[in-house]
Amino acid sequence: MPDQGSVVVVGGTAGIGKEVARHFADRGREVVLSSRDAGRAKAVAAELGGRATGIGLDLARPEEIAGQLAGVGRVDHLVLAAIERDENAVADYDIPRATRLVTLKLVGYTETVHALLPRLHEDSSIVLFGGLARDMPYKTSTTVTTVNYGVTGLMHTLAVELAPIRVNAVHPGVVGDSPYWVDRPGPVRERWRERTPTGRLATMADVAGAVVFLLENRSVNAVDLRVDGGILLLL
Ligand SMILES: NC(=O)c1ccc[n+]([C@@H]2O[C@H](COP(=O)([O-])OP(=O)(O)OC[C@H]3O[C@@H](n4cnc5c(N)ncnc54)[C@H](OP(=O)(O)O)[C@@H]3O)[C@@H](O)[C@H]2O)c1
Repeated sequence: MPDQGSVVVVGGTAGIGKEVARHFADRGREVVLSSRDAGRAKAVAAELGGRATGIGLDLARPEEIAGQLAGVGRVDHLVLAAIERDENAVADYDIPRATRLVTLKLVGYTETVHALLPRLHEDSSIVLFGGLARDMPYKTSTTVTTVNYGVTGLMHTLAVELAPIRVNAVHPGVVGDSPYWVDRPGPVRERWRERTPTGRLATMADVAGAVVFLLENRSVNAVDLRVDGGILLLL
């Protein structure tokens, strides 16, 4: 389909972002996936095959993002999945780490949209990644919880400002087969599973499926979608 634009996945070298990139690459779509390391992005793109390509892009250095996206053409779907994790409590507050995460998810996500705006069109769609820590804080989630609420606010303002472009957010729960969780001790994972009404942890495929739905359903807009097995019901 010569008129079709690309699917851009920021944070597409690992975890859920890589699964989203794989979904579209398997369907013959042009996929541009990013990593902080251009070489790693190109290697993952080659692994996924099809029409996937890789670029280097560091969301924590927002002034450089526009230049790093200069080679990207028309964009149908933009997925902002990247994360650098931050365990940070107020009692032991680490300002550089907090600043990095706030910059990455709030300024970096926004600047990526800004830089790509001339290449989006009225049927384009955007998905931003937040997470369960928005609604279920834990003792070191001060920055993560704050930022995840920020993702909701960002999604709302983008959906208004960029209309008719659709903007949605996805909030995964504990994604049991993601690199972050897969090597955690069994009892830790089991405690989360027991608290989940579905009796199973979400998978990367579950979250990728939700992202595809948010990207492709043309009437779904300004939605915060939790993909967590309904865990908040049993707290
Ligand atoms: N996994 C879960 O259980 C879970 C739960 C709640 C929310 N989430 C959210 O879901 C999203 C995906 O999580 P995940 O666990 O699948 O992630 P992941 O496996 O840790 O992968 C993170 C991705 O972000 C990229 N990245 C890291 N720092 C970056 C930076 N400064 N600039 C640009 N890209 C950067 C990484 O690429 P390089 O290392 O190649 O640079 C990688 O592709 C995240 O937004 C996370 O907050 C996940």
